[in-house]
Amino acid sequence: MELTYRPRRLRRTPALRAMVREHSLSAADFIYPLFVHEGAEVEPIGAMPGASRWSLAALTGEVQRAYDLGVRCIVLFPKVSEGLKTEDGAECFNAKGLIPRAIRQIKEAIPEMAIMTDVALDPYSCDGHDGIVSQDGVVLNDETIELLCKQAVVQAEAGADLIGPSDMMDGRVGAIREALDDEGFEHVGIISYTAKYSSAYYGPFREALDSAPRAAGSKPIPKNKDTYQMDPANAREAITEAQLDEQEGADIMMVKPGLAYLDIIHRLREESELPIAAYNVSGEYSMVKAAAERGWIDEKAVVLETLLSFKRAGADLILTYHACDAAAWLKEA
Ligand code: PBG
Repeated sequence: MELTYRPRRLRRTPALRAMVREHSLSAADFIYPLFVHEGAEVEPIGAMPGASRWSLAALTGEVQRAYDLGVRCIVLFPKVSEGLKTEDGAECFNAKGLIPRAIRQIKEAIPEMAIMTDVALDPYSCDGHDGIVSQDGVVLNDETIELLCKQAVVQAEAGADLIGPSDMMDGRVGAIREALDDEGFEHVGIISYTAKYSSAYYGPFREALDSAPRAAGSKPIPKNKDTYQMDPANAREAITEAQLDEQEGADIMMVKPGLAYLDIIHRLREESELPIAAYNVSGEYSMVKAAAERGWIDEKAVVLETLLSFKRAGADLILTYHACDAAAWLKEA
């Protein structure tokens, strides 16, 4: 055939392929989520093979392992004892709570590691919602934000570098920015869960923290988070959320979940000059792990291809439970 264009010419050898490769992964792109609890044991999480609830005693070692592999940021999630959960989740701003202690301990041992936190009430709420649930079953916006601001300030005081509001209340980014600035934490950044969808992919995470919405007493508790997290059917709305978060002072914007929302990552990338993060959430992780355990897929190849797809879609950063494995695989290559 007399073809002028033969795209295969540039795929012929590894050297040629490397020359025209458009995107790459590096361990510095990853943010590694870690679960902590008060217990003395490291408890494996049933629905997330390879992930654990870390004791404070073992946590620093795991963070050091990630650092040695090139990972430069972690995010901490607490499994709060049932006895400390209340309707208003006030434990979230206890300066001696699990998360502030974990932050201090890590900053003392490995000060170079950046620490991101999660701001929301769900791990601390007996109702399992990200905000306060009123007596008639409404998740209250403005009342919740007061608590989130206190939570953010306590995390910043403990040494957090990036505050991550995951609650999806309206106006929380601006309120948290102001609260941080008022307390002298103008250097602490906000990585906002900007486009966070009401997703079934969070199932294993809610098992890990025992944080799913649940009815305890007579109060009606919404069974899902549809009145504050975004409708999976909506894309334009993510742009509105992004515009608001930028105006309110977000430093980094996140899309969550990641894989089913690559189009949203792409749209935010086009819309904004801010760094964009993708959250490769628990359900995405567990699906890969389950298929790999059965020998149905090649775990390493699938994970690296998936993580690369976030970069190609436009993400700068990736929150992923595969962070250490992927960082180790990248070192091998
Ligand atoms: C809490 C929070 C959730 C996740 C991160 N922060 C769960 C939820 O909103 O119900 C999910 C993370 C994952 O599934 O990996 N606000």
